[in-house]
Amino acid sequence: SATILAACTFGSASAADLVVGFSQIGSESGWRAAETTLTKQQAEQRGIDLKFADAQQKQENQIKAIRSFIAQGVNAILLAPVVATGWDEVLQEAKDAEIPVILLDRTVDASNDLYLTAVTSDLVHEGNVAGKWLADTVAGKPCNVVELQGTTGSSPAIDRKKGFEQALSGHDNLKIIRSQTGDFTRTKGKEVMESFLKAEGGGKNICALYAHNDDMAVGAIQAIKEAGLKPGTDILVVSIDAVPDIFQAMAAGEANATVELTPNMAGPAFDALAAYLKDGKEPAKWIQTESKLYTQADDPMKVYEEKKGLGY
Ligand code: AHR
Repeated sequence: SATILAACTFGSASAADLVVGFSQIGSESGWRAAETTLTKQQAEQRGIDLKFADAQQKQENQIKAIRSFIAQGVNAILLAPVVATGWDEVLQEAKDAEIPVILLDRTVDASNDLYLTAVTSDLVHEGNVAGKWLADTVAGKPCNVVELQGTTGSSPAIDRKKGFEQALSGHDNLKIIRSQTGDFTRTKGKEVMESFLKAEGGGKNICALYAHNDDMAVGAIQAIKEAGLKPGTDILVVSIDAVPDIFQAMAAGEANATVELTPNMAGPAFDALAAYLKDGKEPAKWIQTESKLYTQADDPMKVYEEKKGLGY
């Protein structure tokens, strides 16, 4: 069973003198950039020497970084895995070197004895919350949905799709008519939304957009406006992350709902690591972060201001 953490838990366990390698995916989204900022802050607060490696979205770069961390003899490795598969070999190498690996924000398809713990949200649940919000909001009216998926093969793209589809099952009024990857980026989100709009009568056949992250939603909102439609009204917009920009869009009536993902995955990870290294205390295999739904009713500008101070 998972340990459930509130969105902004900042632990204070002492982990001074540790050297930790962090293999980060890249900087595809506002959320990702905030996670990087917070990981560096959390390390600094604890006196941890953080070795940071940006993989530029490539798994092979992550594998190289992990091998280099092993060669340097770091005390632990944080890994935000870009895709879910293909990790067994390198994780085994870390295990053989007795270097604990902690997964951040995404899961892997590998045996859970190859890593110490995973600090993630319930990614299926996030999709479910978004889908349930949409089903409740359209309340039985016919609604064609377009979906912008995250990076192909990544656990959030797989699970957020699954959770959303689960929420829609049994609601025959809701149909996903188009679904394509926008790679978690603003630029791709805009581009793919433009193609959806073109293919669907300039957008007239589209009732809602579900984007696997806010950045793609923000890009798509721009595309919807350029097509002469009103995002948030003509096309409902629901996404995931709760980055500051989506609250600005919500305040302007251009986005409708988002599911929060905390960018502070490192705080709980370092706490678990400190306890493990001090007393050999094995953490739960899954440290689960909260998934809270925000809508236009939640004073978006106030949340925007609060969020701005939290790594964004
Ligand atoms: O793994 C978490 C996802 O990765 C975030 O939702 C998205 O913005 C990021 O790119």
